[in-house]
Amino acid sequence: MSAPRGEFSSRFGFILAAAGSAVGLGNIWGFPTQTASNGGAAFLLMYLVLTFSLAYPALMAELIIGRYAKANAVTALRSIANSTASRLFGSIAGYAGIITASLILSFYSIVAGWMIAFFLAPLLELAGFLKPAIWLTEFGTFRNLLFAGIFSSLTVVIINGGVKDGIEKWSSRLMPALLIILLILIAYVLTLEGAMDGVRAFLLPDFSKAIDLPLIVSALGQAFFSLSLGVGTMLIYGSYISKKENLSTLGGYVTLVDISIALLAGMLVMPAIYVAQANGVEIFNSNGQLIAEDTLIFTVLPALFDTMGHTGLFISFAFFLLMTIAALTSSISMLEVPVSYAVENHGMPRNKATLLSSTIIGVISIIIILNFSSLFGFVIALTTQYSQPLLGLAFCIFGGWIWSRNNILQELKQGFAGAENSLFWKIWPFYIRYICPAGILAVFIQLILS
Ligand code: TRP
Repeated sequence: MSAPRGEFSSRFGFILAAAGSAVGLGNIWGFPTQTASNGGAAFLLMYLVLTFSLAYPALMAELIIGRYAKANAVTALRSIANSTASRLFGSIAGYAGIITASLILSFYSIVAGWMIAFFLAPLLELAGFLKPAIWLTEFGTFRNLLFAGIFSSLTVVIINGGVKDGIEKWSSRLMPALLIILLILIAYVLTLEGAMDGVRAFLLPDFSKAIDLPLIVSALGQAFFSLSLGVGTMLIYGSYISKKENLSTLGGYVTLVDISIALLAGMLVMPAIYVAQANGVEIFNSNGQLIAEDTLIFTVLPALFDTMGHTGLFISFAFFLLMTIAALTSSISMLEVPVSYAVENHGMPRNKATLLSSTIIGVISIIIILNFSSLFGFVIALTTQYSQPLLGLAFCIFGGWIWSRNNILQELKQGFAGAENSLFWKIWPFYIRYICPAGILAVFIQLILS
């Protein structure tokens, strides 16, 4: 069949790659803007609770299944199934994961393309090319197509390199760069007038909002999106981990890095919004709510950078470069989902599988761009609010009900001899069997009813 499977060369390499997948636009854009529009620290609190109680256990299910089967999600789920029905269930969940990952990548590339355009714009402006710089930051079909294409090409080049020389190598280069840029930006923004109001809004909870049901739905969606769950991404990364590693610790590190970067991004974006206000930029809409989501990133922050003169150009460049880097280490993990399937189950050479997958995803991106107003929001809602939680549920059912507990323990014991008596093993089996499915279902039903 195919060439020998790839494997991460070290523990650190895996952590950077998986954290690279987790840390993306979801952390630097989604988390701060959702926090801004959902009562600040109240959302933060809910997000933390849900990440530890539901998302981390679900992440562990994917990592354990992946490393046990050493295969993509379709093969992996089938291999732990114990009946014809569960094998069929595994196939359906695996294929649905591949489709969902591809759809997520199709809109993610569009947004990431905007980030590239926005980090190039200040460079052109500095060089005196004002008109092209403005063109880059204005919404337009051709700009959208061009930059989604550029971003996808970067993703393809990295995935073509394989696990060690593509995913691991580039995650190890880009993740430290991301952290450095983020820290420099925070240090700078916190010195500006108004920043402390933002820090307060971010860290002091408005508890009247914390038990708000829509807030819980958003927080769970954010937690699942941020840890790249439910589509087989973490399963396939798990399948590239050596049997010598302790899985529960690795999963814990990835979760902690993901949360930390989201918190840091909040410490950048929330203060920046209030600095913008101090500089005369409108930050509340007509309902008195904080402006959020795309308007925040593409209107409020650029307006803030505009008030800063030359410094603003550098800050703007650094901010959107940060976004681009974060997006790239995530997009590669999405493309790896269909690519690994095509390579392993259809014996396709990696470069051919990469080209085929990215072409199909590219066509979907083009269709979305050409029908932007009707499709963009729809595809995002369909994949992140419906498919991801439902598929996450499927993984929990496999980890909690279908796969035998003893086999799971045997897999965990590889690289973690004391697994049986660990705190993790005292809690996780119960969690993945009852709490996670119930939690996901409760939130999902809430979503359907609302
Ligand atoms: N977690 C990434 C972010 O926060 C996005 C991401 C990467 C993703 N792979 C995924 C989301 C798989 C869902 C499924 O931006």
